[in-house]
Amino acid sequence: MIEKTAGDKKKFSIAVINGDGIGPEVMSEARAIASAAASREGASLEWSDYPFGASHYLMTGEILPESAIREIGQHDAMMLGAIGDPAVKPGILERGILLALRFVFDQYVNLRPAVSYPNVPVPVPSGGPIDSVVVRENTEDLYMGLGSVSEDGLLESPLDLERGGYSLRGHLSLSVSPRMGFAAQVALNTRHGTERIARYACETARRRGEDRVTIVTKSNAAPALYGFFEDTAKSVIESEFPGIEWSTVNVDALCYHLVRNPSAYGVLLCPNLFGDIVSDLQAGLAGGLGTAAGGNIGGGLSMFEPVHGSAPDIAGTGRANPIAAILSGALMLRHLSLEGAAVAVERAVRTYLEGASSDERPFEFGGSASCGQVGAAVMKNI
Ligand code: NAD
Ligand code: IPM
Ligand code: MN
Repeated sequence: MIEKTAGDKKKFSIAVINGDGIGPEVMSEARAIASAAASREGASLEWSDYPFGASHYLMTGEILPESAIREIGQHDAMMLGAIGDPAVKPGILERGILLALRFVFDQYVNLRPAVSYPNVPVPVPSGGPIDSVVVRENTEDLYMGLGSVSEDGLLESPLDLERGGYSLRGHLSLSVSPRMGFAAQVALNTRHGTERIARYACETARRRGEDRVTIVTKSNAAPALYGFFEDTAKSVIESEFPGIEWSTVNVDALCYHLVRNPSAYGVLLCPNLFGDIVSDLQAGLAGGLGTAAGGNIGGGLSMFEPVHGSAPDIAGTGRANPIAAILSGALMLRHLSLEGAAVAVERAVRTYLEGASSDERPFEFGGSASCGQVGAAVMKNI
């Protein structure tokens, strides 16, 4: 990480894509609060805005040019609001911007804590506070984008891609008889990809003072893909992490157990697709997507973003809850080694939620505070 000093202030350069829907609304609060918290710790954040997202695409046809990727890569960290708009076919912007950034910068960890906050109504009573974290593999599985649709029963599709650590070369050649339309999408979990995320999950457990990692699987239905993930993770844990135990849970049973006992789990090590799904479930159980923060972390540029999407159903109404974006800013500050600033943001959110009257809470929690009012109330506690 490049750390510059001007006078006695540490300066960090942050690339930002506000993106679509509620992205700009929640990011405006998250940025102001991250900057204020950093400055309390004698650091400053310099934000560079990138316009990519639906309106830029609809106006210019541009998704995410190479030159911008190179520029973004020069920053110390990145934040992203949300990508996706009903006016654009699903996948074009999500794959072209969000997933492209995760892959290009080899952000192999998607870290998604699920935490209970005070006065947040929850759908299911929990045995105790929820304090769990999804450690989601972020570059492989069904997300590789390999495959296509055939209308005539014949499919020829190249399988070429670059990942941090390896290149894949090959070709998918399929025919269906009798001829009919079909779709094929190839999923891949590599030893390299699985080992490194298993290590990160174990390190996360150690940081949390825990001795268990739960491997989320579906090896009963997809033994090649998820049996491999499970076996590889187990052998990393057994051979490299004495004192850490593994257990496995099928993803369907996990959903069931989570709903019945939301605070039952600590570190959940997930392949990419299950991690996506389970993190929304966890968010729902902890009170809402509006508090679910996330980080896409790798050896190069890391990118911090809420778990939620662009929420077109509430965009522009002021009903978006900015807390998830604000807490994603805290994860970024921690990543930049500004631990005091990260803690200040987390405490400010807690203090606000503890003290807020029912009206002063976000709409998501039954209140009537707008996105800007929630941001301003959190800011007062920084
Ligand atoms: P979503 O997360 O945008 O919304 C799901 C539900 O949660 C909606 O009812 C929404 O109003 C609510 N919600 C989400 N964030 C909220 C917040 N901060 N405060 C209050 N309520 C909130 O998921 P979706 O509807 O499936 O997706 C909408 C678009 O976002 C799609 O284009 C999708 O591809 C995209 N998406 C992007 C990201 C991302 O950029 N990281 C993540 C998920 C979905
Ligand atoms: C998320 C989102 C993305 C994902 C989509 C928008 C591609 O749901 O960040 O959780 O599936 O990873
Ligand atoms: Mn998701």
